[in-house]
Formats: sequence, C-alpha cells, structure tokens
Amino acid sequence: MEVKQVLHMNGGLGDTSYANNSLLQRKVISMTKPITEEAITELYISMNAPKNLCMAELGCSSGPNTMVVATELVKMVLKLCRTLGQQPPEFQIHLNDLNGNDFNSIFQVHLPMFQLELQDHETSRGRVSPCFVSAVPGSFYGRLFPSRTLHFIHSSYSLMWLSKIPKEVELLNKDNIYMASASPRQVIDAYYNQFRTDFSTFLRCRSEEVVSGGRMVLTILGRKSEDACSKDCCYLWELLALALKQMVAEGVIEEEKLQSFNIPQYTPSPTEVRKEVEKEGSFSIDHLETLEIPWAACGKGHYPAGAEDRYYDVGSCMRSVVEPLLVQHFGASTMDPLFDKYSKILCHRMANGEEAKFVSVTVSMTRI
Ligand SMILES: C[S@@+](CC[C@H](N)C(=O)[O-])C[C@H]1O[C@@H](n2cnc3c(N)ncnc32)[C@H](O)[C@@H]1O
Repeated sequence: MEVKQVLHMNGGLGDTSYANNSLLQRKVISMTKPITEEAITELYISMNAPKNLCMAELGCSSGPNTMVVATELVKMVLKLCRTLGQQPPEFQIHLNDLNGNDFNSIFQVHLPMFQLELQDHETSRGRVSPCFVSAVPGSFYGRLFPSRTLHFIHSSYSLMWLSKIPKEVELLNKDNIYMASASPRQVIDAYYNQFRTDFSTFLRCRSEEVVSGGRMVLTILGRKSEDACSKDCCYLWELLALALKQMVAEGVIEEEKLQSFNIPQYTPSPTEVRKEVEKEGSFSIDHLETLEIPWAACGKGHYPAGAEDRYYDVGSCMRSVVEPLLVQHFGASTMDPLFDKYSKILCHRMANGEEAKFVSVTVSMTRI
C-alpha cells in the first residue's frame, strides 16, 4: 500500500482529532512568522502592485492551523497596500493535502471562520478584497498546479513525510519502527536516499509552478545534528516502538506485524536541505535556520510546574498524527491500549528529568 493512500491526520473535531491536538505545530508556525512576513513583503514589493496574488498551503491538514498562515499573509498584504496607498489585489488560496484529508471539516468549520475574520478585519478599514479559496487534493511529490501560476508557497511540518518506505527498510529494520541506533547502516542510507529523491522531486514540481521571483517558505521537522539517528528526531519513535514491543510481549500484537511496520518519515538536517535545494538549482536560499521547541509545548500550558500530565499531551499529539497509519497496520482495537502505554512511557521518562525537544528546519527561497 502506498503512503499516499493511507497517510492523513485524525480528522473531525473530537478528542483524538488533529484539530484538537496540534497546538505544538501552531506554535511552530507562529515562531516562523517573521520569516514568512519578510518573504511576502519582499514578494509584494517586487511585484509592483499586483492585481492578483496566488498562494498555496501544502500539507494543510484539517484544523485551526489549516488557514492560519493564509489569514496572516492576506492581512500582511492588506497592511502593505494601506502603507503604500495601493489597491489590494484579489487573493487566490489553494489548500493542498492528500486525498484522505478531512477537507469537509475545513470547508464546514475553518473556512467560515477565516472568512469572518477577514471580513471583520477589512470592514473596520472600509474595504473587502475578493479571496477565492479552493482545495487541491493530491501528493506534493507530483504536479498540483498549472505552470507558472503560483506566487507564494507555504508548508509546515509536512515535508518530512516520505512518499514510500524504502525496500531495505522493510527488509532489515526488524523491531525498530524508524531510524534507531540499532538500525543497520543500509536502513539509515535508504531513508536518506528516499528523502533526497522525494525532496528533489518536490522542488522540481514547484519550480514548474512558481513564477520567476515567487517565494516558498518551508518548515520541516528535522534535526540539528548531522547524525540521522540523533535523539533530536528519533526518540519519540523509539518510545512508541517500546510500547509496541510491550504489546508483542503480552501477545496482543504479532511479532511479524511489528517487524513489518516502519514510519515513512525522514527528519533532515539544515545541511541536507541546503544540499538538495542547491543541487536542484531552481531556487535561491534567502534564509535557512533551525528552531527548537520543548515537547512540553504540546501541552495547553495550565499544569502546575513539574506536573506529569503535560506529557500525556505529547502522546495525544502523536496519536492525532500517526493513528491512521497504525490502524491500517495493527487494527483499530489496539489503539487505546497502545497510546495508554505510550503516554505512560513518555511521562515516566520525562519525570526522570529528561527534557526532549522538537527541532524544525525552516528554509525561505526565491524562484530564480
Ligand atoms: C503534521 S500535518 C501538518 C499540518 C499543518 N501544516 C500544520 O502545521 O499543522 C502534515 C500534513 O502533511 C500531509 N502530507 C504528507 N505527505 C503529503 C504529500 N505527499 N502530499 C500532500 N500532503 C502531504 C499530511 O496528510 C498531513 O495533513
């Protein structure tokens, strides 16, 4: 089964939905706002009072984060127009994700909120700009838009997902579910090669779609270290593998099932991102930086200092992201006990003084 057929975040608005468990990703988006703001400002000024602006959010998922960047981008451009005394452009916003994404919730819940927010923002300033929003389902590892039609692309926490699990990983990774210190060298190399293939395909497709001078800001879950198995990126998956192994020991999950499960992700270093952008050659890098955010940022922030409960939120965040992949492989009935064990392991490790972080790599680029 191809990744694009099964991968999506938990839909809807329930307790285990991505919509209700993506606070960490929203904090990352807000931490990268100055980079996005700089890119859209430079783009707008270089376009010399454009009549229309076409933007795309790739890997938009479904939840409050889906339209948060689009809202900010539109507001930033309107502010620029006011400052420069120019007529605002018409906006076209494309929301892309894989076919299994919960697009219904976007259009039923999040789009009306976006429209209301912009209306409030604009009517207080006396004008309303047309803003056309559409969904574009499909993999960003293929063409999504007509040639030379996009001015701005944004994507956050999506490009670490690979298009497939390499064969070597399926054959050799045994009880590991991701790159681990116990994984053979061939497994690490195969994951890295798959990232290089996927990311350069992504860049090639976008280079066809973005106008000359167009901008792209990508934030990818990554790592600081050049060691692909560093704790930065692998620890969360190692702890999930521990919970799965406990279920194998209890006879709930078959050993072969565990051995044939792997996470289709690669968390690159900034050097690896730079290398692929330079090799592909269609975009010049304006900014490349890493940022860190502690696991505890998943929490809603109202716990007493030192409370373990906030680590349950890391488990819930991970569940909202990875549950559809796990259900497809292990079945729905194993999910509650699995995530109960996983959260307990997380709380135990963190209570013993370990403080882990998510690392993000953000790259801002211009189409040459
Ligand atoms: C962790 S969510 C991030 C969502 C949102 N950007 C945010 O920051 O909250 C990653 C999203 O990327 C999407 N995704 C993964 N691979 C993709 C692909 N090849 N093409 C399009 N979307 C993809 C997933 O379906 C998922 O909705």
